[in-house]
This record gives sequence, structure tokens and C-alpha cells, in this order.
Amino acid sequence: MDVIETIYKRRSIRKYANKPVEKDIIITLLKAAAAAPTAANCQPWEFIVIDEVEKLTVLREKLIFARYNAPVAIVVCGNMKLAFKGPAREMWVQDCSAAIENILIAATSIGLGTVWVGAYPIESNVKPIKKLLDIPDYVTPLGIVFVGYPAETKEARTRFDEKRVYWQGYEPNRKHRSKDKPITGHY
Ligand SMILES: Cc1cc2nc3c(=O)[nH]c(=O)nc-3n(C[C@H](O)[C@H](O)[C@H](O)COP(=O)(O)O)c2cc1C
Repeated sequence: MDVIETIYKRRSIRKYANKPVEKDIIITLLKAAAAAPTAANCQPWEFIVIDEVEKLTVLREKLIFARYNAPVAIVVCGNMKLAFKGPAREMWVQDCSAAIENILIAATSIGLGTVWVGAYPIESNVKPIKKLLDIPDYVTPLGIVFVGYPAETKEARTRFDEKRVYWQGYEPNRKHRSKDKPITGHY
């Protein structure tokens, strides 16, 4: 699949077929994650793969915005012992976000569905995930990627909007789209 086409095709899938995802496919997704760019090449990411039904069930129960029937969940974490030192440490969020996006795009390209569920900085998500998965204090779960074969289809699309694009500098007086329309649906 063409890369641009794959990027447009990636959508949040919230209904999954009752079909497991093979381990070698999960490894392929993790290799894509670990190919992401990372500040100062720190690679602060770590991945916890959950494919046991009991654990997935508990995880779903703990997170009200993650009650999806995917057969696999990949928890993408930032390890502060690996992260950039000093004020740039917070770049772990960007590094791990890039890794997550790589998983989403790679999965789409091989016919899998995914949804990114945010954890950090929402403490009510971070805390139960850390407890359930025995995550130490210097490791923070940024998000969970649910992965599986899709049982729903969504149209490929981009939400490109010229009003969000400035050339050569910002125009503070330009009317911003988010002020014109109410925000609805998932965040
Ligand atoms: C940081 C982040 C956190 C998200 N958290 C959730 C979540 O908790 N539950 C959920 O169903 N979707 C979540 N999503 C998915 C968004 O709802 C989704 O990307 C958005 O509605 C746009 O739809 P699309 O992914 O199909 O393009 C999250 C996405 C991001 C980037």
C-alpha cells in the first residue's frame, strides 16, 4: 500500500474480529515503533504487550475510554532512566508518540485495525495501568495501542484545512476553526 494512502486509511477502530494477531506480526509492529525518530537518539520507549484474555479484561475494566474487544494491547511506556537528561527530558513524550504513530501506520498497511488510547498525563489512567502491569516509578505509560483485525470499516480521509496553515508566519487575527465549531466525540 502506498504510504500516503495508508496514512489516510488509518482510523481509530473500536470493533474487532474474534481473531488473534500472530506474534510475528506484533514483532513487526514493534520494529516499526522502534524505527521512530527520537531526541538525541535516547530511545526512551519500552513496550508491554498484553494478549492474555484475563489481563485484557482487567485492563478494559480499569479504563472507561478503552472498552474495546481487541485481542492485543501494546502499552507504550517512557523509561525516565533512558530519557534525555535535564529540561529536555519531557521529549520522551514526543519520542513515544512517534513510536505509537509508527505502530498505527504499520498496522494499517498490513490490514490490522488500531486505536490509540491515551494514558499520561491523565493520572486516573496512568495509576491503574502501572498497578496492573507492575510498572516501576521511573517508567510512565504514555498510551495503549489496541490492535486486531477490524470488524468495522471507516473511510480513508484527511482533515486538511487551509485555515490551519500559515505561510511565513502566524496571523493572530485570522479566525480559527476550533472557535467556529463545537468539539464533539472522542478527544
Ligand atoms: C493522545 C490520544 C489519546 C486518545 N485517547 C483515546 C481514548 O481514550 N479512547 C478512544 O476511543 N480513542 C482515543 N483516541 C483516538 C481519537 O479519539 C481519534 O484519533 C480521533 O477521534 C480521530 O479519529 P481517527 O483516529 O479515526 O482519525 C486518542 C488519540 C490520541 C492521539
